[in-house]
Amino acid sequence: MFYWIETFGCQMNVHDSDRMADVLRASGWQKAESLENAELVLFNTCSIREKSEQKLRSEVGKLAPLKERRPELIFAVAGCVAQQEGEKLLARFPVLDLVLGPDNIPELPRLLEDQRSGAPPVARTVFDIDEPRFLTATADEKRVSAFVTTMKGCDERCSFCIVPTTRGPERYRSSDEIVAEVARWVEGGAREIVLLGQTVDSFRDPALPPAASDDPDESQFPSLLRKIADAVPRFDDANPFAPGLLRLRYTSPHPRHATPSLVAAHREVEILAEHIHLPVQSGSNRMLRRMIRRYTRETFIERAAALLASRPGTTMSSDIIVGFPGETDEDFEETLSLVREVGFVQVFGFKFSPRPGTPALKLGNDVPESKKSERLARLFELVDAQLAAHLATLVGTRVTVLVEGASKLGDAFTGRTQRNEIVHLARDLFPEGLELAGQVVEADIVSANKRSLAGAPTERAMIHLSTLPTHAMRVRTVEKRVLQVVA
Ligand code: SAH
Ligand code: F3S
Repeated sequence: MFYWIETFGCQMNVHDSDRMADVLRASGWQKAESLENAELVLFNTCSIREKSEQKLRSEVGKLAPLKERRPELIFAVAGCVAQQEGEKLLARFPVLDLVLGPDNIPELPRLLEDQRSGAPPVARTVFDIDEPRFLTATADEKRVSAFVTTMKGCDERCSFCIVPTTRGPERYRSSDEIVAEVARWVEGGAREIVLLGQTVDSFRDPALPPAASDDPDESQFPSLLRKIADAVPRFDDANPFAPGLLRLRYTSPHPRHATPSLVAAHREVEILAEHIHLPVQSGSNRMLRRMIRRYTRETFIERAAALLASRPGTTMSSDIIVGFPGETDEDFEETLSLVREVGFVQVFGFKFSPRPGTPALKLGNDVPESKKSERLARLFELVDAQLAAHLATLVGTRVTVLVEGASKLGDAFTGRTQRNEIVHLARDLFPEGLELAGQVVEADIVSANKRSLAGAPTERAMIHLSTLPTHAMRVRTVEKRVLQVVA
């Protein structure tokens, strides 16, 4: 039995697709070589913007002829569109057999079994409110960088956002379970862990009473970061091939919980990356109010500055929406000025897209498409210039590169610094045949491109690498391939 999963959308969906693959493999399924020869085709969907939904429609259209040729093919839709639309999807797309919500992944094998024995198409989209389940990767999986879920759902209800509908209310995983999963990844060779949650910094340990604090925005997230750092072995420069955690990241925090204790954690917890992704959405107070973001421009700038000052050299990226209902040229200028003031080196910019059931629908969608495009282009132009200027200042500095794999052309190893900058290390600087994915390489930055850096390994790094034991080479980014046996 062979499956094929197509993933659309965010890291959360990537993570969910991995978990679906896990439960499928655990019940005898194998990954197909291609969509055409799969017996199960599963689309893990995204509904954050209208475009993502249109994409689903066109992809489903493409599958219809395949299903006509092979009626036994099971076609499933999971993820946010599945949760949002439920049974309506089955009515709209007769080729569909199964609609699966993000909280129903463990039920996938059973539902497929039903389908294979001729059950009618079914939609299963029930949130696990009372007993939230957090799926862990199977023990034999190895990765350089791994996502670990700490919470799911979102209680914020930003006026534009569909996530609270598609992912339900906030539910947290116990810190012991989180630490255990982090430890397991690290033991298996992971060098970087990315904690994952919709408002990852609102974390409250379900096993503990609420934090004793007068600040309603105070969470137990900083304690979680400290707990992970204390419990998990760290990467040791003197023993560079032993298991150990080099970097801890998280995504995405809500600025509301970026309180002084989070800043203190960044100052004191060494393994925290010197890079923070902090979504701002807009630099205009009028827009922030309409977006129900629950902070002002001034608070955001103050909090971002405190985080950036927590450790010298820390960089920041953000999410920004342009063309939110009622956004004037002046409002947008405020966004650009905030981008300058904070000095973001990367921005995920989006045109406002009205979503079903969100409060912003009542505000209309009055910024013309051409205006949205123009604003987005100006935003990217500014951020590109800030990134290029930042990268240029790094020439001549020494960095620690966590190598993730090979560059697209294959002529370099590519990795990231502690600040998340991309670094290419030319292959011909290393002995032939050396596989560096998963290795930590000290490098000097020799030049800067528009979006990345070029580095050269230091002498010390070369001495370390010359002792690279063969077993260390097995920690790869690539997943194990299952060979398909054609009968
Ligand atoms: N806290 C979540 C946010 C998910 S949505 C996280 O973990 O990343 C990711 C980004 O999409 C948001 O920060 C926002 O900038 C953008 N976005 C969400 N809803 C949108 C909409 N209706 N139109 C345009 N962009 C949107
Ligand atoms: Fe969406 Fe706001 Fe939550 S952007 S995911 S409602 S924090």
